Amino acid sequence: MVCHPELADQVLRDPHTFIRGGPGYPQIRTLLGDGLFTCPNAKHKRTRRLLQPPFQRTRVADYIPTMVEMADAVTGAWRSGVPFDVMREMTAVASKIGVRTMFSAEITERYLDETQACIEEIIDGIHREVLTSALGVRWLFLHRTRRFHRTLARYEQVVDVVIRAYRRSGSEHADILSMLMAARDDAGEPMSDREVRDNVINMFTAATAAGPGSIMAWALHLLDRHPDIARRVRHEIDSILGGDAPDDSALRRLELTRHVVLETLRLYPHGWLILRRVSTPVELAGQILPPGTSLVVSPYQLHRQPRLFPDPERFDPDRWAAEDPGPREAYIPFGNGSRKCLGEAFALTEIVIVLARVLQNWTLSGQAASSGPVVPRVNALLEAPPLVMTPQPRTSHMTATSE
Ligand code: HEM
Repeated sequence: MVCHPELADQVLRDPHTFIRGGPGYPQIRTLLGDGLFTCPNAKHKRTRRLLQPPFQRTRVADYIPTMVEMADAVTGAWRSGVPFDVMREMTAVASKIGVRTMFSAEITERYLDETQACIEEIIDGIHREVLTSALGVRWLFLHRTRRFHRTLARYEQVVDVVIRAYRRSGSEHADILSMLMAARDDAGEPMSDREVRDNVINMFTAATAAGPGSIMAWALHLLDRHPDIARRVRHEIDSILGGDAPDDSALRRLELTRHVVLETLRLYPHGWLILRRVSTPVELAGQILPPGTSLVVSPYQLHRQPRLFPDPERFDPDRWAAEDPGPREAYIPFGNGSRKCLGEAFALTEIVIVLARVLQNWTLSGQAASSGPVVPRVNALLEAPPLVMTPQPRTSHMTATSE
């Protein structure tokens, strides 16, 4: 386990000596094909270059109206005083945003619900496959494995149908799939349909695997437990947005809301384990590591070291307003180096936008703090557990200070 930020930096910035991999990785690769997350280094540079454009900061701003629309679609069903599981609701928002920004064309309308249902089952299935293979008890769950493989096959079929429909219609839709299909590499070559499909599946899995939804749910929970900070956040949202939907210019000004998100990612980075395998003998911290050595870099562990982040257990969004919030190499919720998260700008935008929209229109209260600390659900990822909260609609957008 690599516990020093400079060593973590050395490992993450040298993807050829320290290759992505570890327990469960071969299974993930078999399941998800050769998309950006799972592809070997030899394919990585070309694929990353092809996939980058729709995820650049300036492009991501174009998805904000869809992010607001999907947040409204889910929160529109909330009823005053009727409690719900905020983790489930936020995962639904994130998954709708993932599907809608990827496929926006009308031809895909009838596949949207099916795609979403498939993704949810696939994510569950991946966790189970990786865990049961690692423990050698996969045979106990063969019926579920078969069902999981049927869903995966159906999902691949749906994505293939959509890709073919896009090719036939020949028109440009303002969505990520169109951009992937239009992308050309240095030799002027597009991705094959198979490459597009593998990447769509890789990205859907990354984008919806509870990541953004979990961070939204944690943030709402942390704000509930810190009413003084929640009041300031609502005040910021009200004074910047009033009754308007958040847009790109508002996003830039929602500074405290953004600090809440950065702080939530510090405390509960959903990719809490970054796994690497040594490919050639290498010296790390004075030790020679032979090929095949498994290494773990844990954002969770680095983010909670007191010498890197003073008073690390405290939820303190204001630390991000300081000139020096902590060493750059120590804050790695999205990884580091050339295999850093492709969706960082997308995820940060969607989390801030959804949080702002929810807090603009609702007050959410959870169970009393006296019910004890909330414990994350830990598997390959670190997720928020079910978090029951009760919504009350906010009638005025300028009453934050009186709430
Ligand atoms: C809160 C949200 C998210 C977090 C905390 C997160 C975290 C991470 C981390 C830690 C890695 C690096 C893993 C490693 O180095 O082995 C990663 C890679 C990746 N993420 Fe995310 N992610 C998030 C959301 C997203 C979204 C929305 C997308 C959608 C496009 C996405 C797509 C990817 C891809 C494609 C990679 C592989 C990049 C490469 O190998 O070049 N992620 N993510």
